[in-house]
Parts: sequence; structure tokens; C-alpha cells
Amino acid sequence: MTIINRADHGREERVGIDKALAPVRMAGLELRNRIIKAATFEGMTPGGVPTEALAEYHREVAAGGAALTTVAYCGVSPDGLTFPDQMYMHDGIAPQLQALTAAVHREGGAISAQLAHCGGFSRNRPRNVRRPLGPVRGINEYGIFSGVPLRGAMTQRDIDKTVREYGEAAAFVKAQGFDAAEIHMGHGYLLSQFISPATNTRTDNYGGSLANRMRLPLEVLASVRKAVGEDFPLLAKINLSDGFDGGLEIAEAVETARILQEGGIDAIVMSGGFVNRTPMYLFRGESPLADMIHFETNPLQRAAMKLFGKYSFPEMPFHELYFLDQARQVRQAVDVPLVYLGGVSSPEAISTAMDEGFDYVAMGRALIKDPQMIRHIEQESQYRNGCTHCNLCVARIAAPGGVHCVLNH
Ligand SMILES: Cc1cc2nc3c(=O)[nH]c(=O)nc-3n(C[C@H](O)[C@H](O)[C@H](O)COP(=O)(O)O)c2cc1C
Repeated sequence: MTIINRADHGREERVGIDKALAPVRMAGLELRNRIIKAATFEGMTPGGVPTEALAEYHREVAAGGAALTTVAYCGVSPDGLTFPDQMYMHDGIAPQLQALTAAVHREGGAISAQLAHCGGFSRNRPRNVRRPLGPVRGINEYGIFSGVPLRGAMTQRDIDKTVREYGEAAAFVKAQGFDAAEIHMGHGYLLSQFISPATNTRTDNYGGSLANRMRLPLEVLASVRKAVGEDFPLLAKINLSDGFDGGLEIAEAVETARILQEGGIDAIVMSGGFVNRTPMYLFRGESPLADMIHFETNPLQRAAMKLFGKYSFPEMPFHELYFLDQARQVRQAVDVPLVYLGGVSSPEAISTAMDEGFDYVAMGRALIKDPQMIRHIEQESQYRNGCTHCNLCVARIAAPGGVHCVLNH
């Protein structure tokens, strides 16, 4: 199918949708097109165990034509979870993960595991763990009402252990049939906490200059690479900006991308925001706060959300391709393949991202609204997705049955 771009002085011009829908190779992996389902935590791992619904969710995305679907939040260790209903990678869930990867493969899709660790931002307290650990000690605001009010600072030993755990988790997901892994370095989780000047005020060689703040992410990348080999695609999800004063800004984000390119990453997914400070910077659109309060089961947490939630969940105007200006600056600085993410829900936006020189397009909410989106684009020239950026899917993370589009049900 060809989309016509009439913006260029009225000249009709073939643009990027054909490129987006043609096969491509990412490291050693053949992909049937350049469309990636972004990680969107599905809320389908109660007690840390993936359900059949999770497999069905990703099967449907693969059946709908996306080339690579990303399983959100594959914790690398029990102390790397933000709350108990997330999974960490261990043999106990191998059968469920194998069923999940097989379901996607049967539909001709590929599947990636998002390797994650929450650092000092957690409501979870596994046995033998006194407090979550991040770059520096302090208050763990997120865990205050869940009996985990403090976070500690990682020692060298903790760092070495975490680097090892990333490698082990990567080897584990590869053994369960995953085709790629995405190392989560954004959104205020552990590696993002190390990269951000706001949250990493360490005075050793893991803090200070950007080179020092990138030391742990690079050690993690090397450990993961050693575990999976050269042919297995590794993506990194990074912030273009943390979205608050004193946080990472675009100039350093560009450098982050350059450093990861040097470190041998296969592709970089660009996003922004801290989930615990500036969540709406990530999503844009309407605030889902009222629904989040509704689904919150901890009464103290619910009361706090009622009082203070409006400060961290303000509405932020949504416009298509809302990270484009910042992502373009990364595009101009590096050669490594880049994944455009943020506010894509139309064939025209996919096309623009291709024309701008990005190698892949990732989508979250548009594929929650319509997992068949790519098949539909192939079949309908006037395709409209229908996602309204109400963000009520985000509130469903904590709802019975997990994430879905409220407009579909
Ligand atoms: C319900 C929901 C859950 C999400 N969970 C995650 C997650 O676990 N990890 C992550 O990196 N991003 C997560 N995101 C953010 C998306 O990956 C993406 O950055 C964001 O939705 C913007 O892209 P979009 O405009 O295509 O939706 C989530 C998004 C949604 C809507």
C-alpha cells in the first residue's frame, strides 16, 4: 500500500509505509516488518506467574502483523520488582514462558523480553531483602504505604551481583525461546536512576560524569551480550528527557545513545519520563488518576493518591509523534538503528517516522486498541485506529483481568 504525502509543496510522493511493512534484519533476527509492539505492562502475571491470558495477548499482537512483540517487565531478580505481581526470571515460570514464546512463533512473529530492575523504587519486599537498592540511599516515596519507606545505596558487591543477574536473566529468556531482549534503561528504573544526574549523586566511579553514570548500564550490556552472543538482538530503552528540572536532558541523552552505540547495542528505543515522578511525560493525553484510585487496593495509598495524585498525574497535551523533535536530535548524532516510540497511531505517523530516518516504529496504546492494526493497514487505505489517549488502559495495570482498551469492551 502507498500513502500519499501532500505536504511537500503539493507534490504527491511515496512515503515510508512501504518501507515500514517490508522485511528487515535486526542483528541475527529476520523481522517481517519494522513494527514493534512496545512494552506495556499487562498486569497478567499475578503472584509473578505469567497467565494464559498473557500468552494470548501477545499471540494476538503477532497474529495482527507486528514483527516483534515485547513482553514488559521481565524482572532480573526478586529484589528488582516494583510490586509483587510482576515476574522475575527463574526456572519456576519456564513452562509458561515457553508457551508464550511458542504462541507468538506460531503466528510468524518474534518476541522480545524487556529486562528490568526497579532499583530503589519499589513496593516489594522479598524475603532476605531489607530495602530496595538504588544509586543512593533516601526515601522510597513509592513504597511508604507498603512498609518499604527507605531505599539503600548499592555497594560494589550489590552492583556486581546485579550485573551478573542481568546476564543470567538474558541467558534464561533466550533459553525460553525469546528472540531478542530489551534492556530497560529509562522511565526511572534502576539503570535510569544511574544515568540521571537527579538520582545519581554518587561520588565513586559510578557517579558524577555521564561516562561514570553510564558505567553500570554498560557493564549490564556487556554481561547480557556475553550471555546471549552476537546474533541475538539487544535493544536498550532510554530516556530522551526525564521530564523534570535537574533530570537528564536531551544533550546528555544524545551522548547516552552514542555511548550505547560504542558498547555494541543493536537498536535504541527512545522514550522519556520517570514513572514515579513524571508519568504523564511518557504517555501524554488524559490523566487516568481517577481510575487508578478506583483500582488501588491499599487504603493509605488510595488516600495519598486522592490528596497528591494530581501533582504527578497532570493532563499533558497529546500530539502525534510527541517525541519527534528530541528523537530527531539522536538520529542526527548516531548511526545505530533507532526505534521511534511515542504517539504513533496512524499509517501517516508510521510513514513520517520512516521518512525521518528511524529504522523501526514501536507502538503501545495503538496496538492495545487494535492488535490487528498492521493487518488492517495492509487492507484498508483509510485506516483509523481509534485510540483516544484516555490512558484508561494504564489504570487497568492494577485491575482484575489486566490491561485492555476500555473502548473495545
Ligand atoms: C498500559 C501501559 C503499560 C506500560 N508499561 C510499560 C512497561 O512495563 N515498560 C515500559 O518500558 N513502558 C511501558 N509503557 C510505556 C510504553 O512502552 C510507551 O512508552 C508509551 O505507551 C508511549 O507509546 P504510545 O504512544 O505508542 O502508547 C506502558 C504503556 C502503557 C499504555
